Amino acid sequence: MIEEIPASQLDTARFIAEQVAAIREAVGEGTAINALSGGVDSSVVTMLGHLALGDRLRTVIIDNGLMRDGELERTVALFGALGVPVELIPAQEAFFAALKGVRDPEAKREAITQTFYRDVFGRIVRESGAQVLLQGTILTDVDETVAGIKRQHNVFAQLGIDPEATFGYRILEPLIRLRKDGVRLVGEALGLPAEVFNRMPFPGPALAARVIGEVTPERIAIVRRATAVVERLLAGCGAFQYLAILHEDHVTGMREGRRAFGQQIEVRCWDSVDAREATPTELPWATLRRLADQILAEVPEVVSVTYNLAPKPPSTIEAV
Ligand code: XMP
Repeated sequence: MIEEIPASQLDTARFIAEQVAAIREAVGEGTAINALSGGVDSSVVTMLGHLALGDRLRTVIIDNGLMRDGELERTVALFGALGVPVELIPAQEAFFAALKGVRDPEAKREAITQTFYRDVFGRIVRESGAQVLLQGTILTDVDETVAGIKRQHNVFAQLGIDPEATFGYRILEPLIRLRKDGVRLVGEALGLPAEVFNRMPFPGPALAARVIGEVTPERIAIVRRATAVVERLLAGCGAFQYLAILHEDHVTGMREGRRAFGQQIEVRCWDSVDAREATPTELPWATLRRLADQILAEVPEVVSVTYNLAPKPPSTIEAV
């Protein structure tokens, strides 16, 4: 049982000092490595590791082919400006090969986990000689994994998997006692820009968590374009998280006066404090209409756009 530090009781300066000391102690004279995604959790871990270890921390960002438009390049530039070098590792082919023909949600998460930890990042870690891997697991990831709701891609100990035996390295999780609201406070205290510490959550399996059925480069490209529209039109709406989901079923529509058996995008927009429970945001009708119009205009494969009305639970925030 991990003891939670609620955001209301978090002393960020003390937390940062303790975590920096713990990282230094665990790494000793050695080196550590971490994978940055650009999300708030991995960004905060990167800054904690940077404070603790300086150039004895190696930070990589893996291009799994599943990220949003331009997001990896923006993250590398942003951390570069903060004095933290980040290496961009291309690995799209490995992930799409592992996802080929996989349709079950948990099997997709497993394929991504294995490709990330064992094949791509695991190999980099083993070749780097680093003793410790820093990772941004938070308490909500643990809860949902233990409850069997979703296998969060970054939880091992709670599943009884020993990363040292299975993947060959030791994992340190400085944020494991926090939830998202606490992580944001630590990010702010670390001097990260607001666009990072206030960034909307984005799942580890990235856009693969938003493709129902098989994940292919073509299907990721569709959900990526729909995501760009949703993020552009809902920016500043105040919701906790908003996203686009690509459905598997096709429906009959019309394009250029002809029957088109096209794709369906579901828009989700959530009000939530910490992602444990969430309700759909009451978006104005005009906003919903604009979302549909823009998605239909910018993603020609799509002929149907819906808005999710079910709360979490029983829904979950992502679709996979
Ligand atoms: P769900 O879909 O379980 O999502 O209601 C709860 C919150 O967690 C994010 N999420 C993930 N984050 N790895 C992560 O780091 C994952 O595998 C993952 N799956 C979901 C989701 O975006 C939401 O904010």
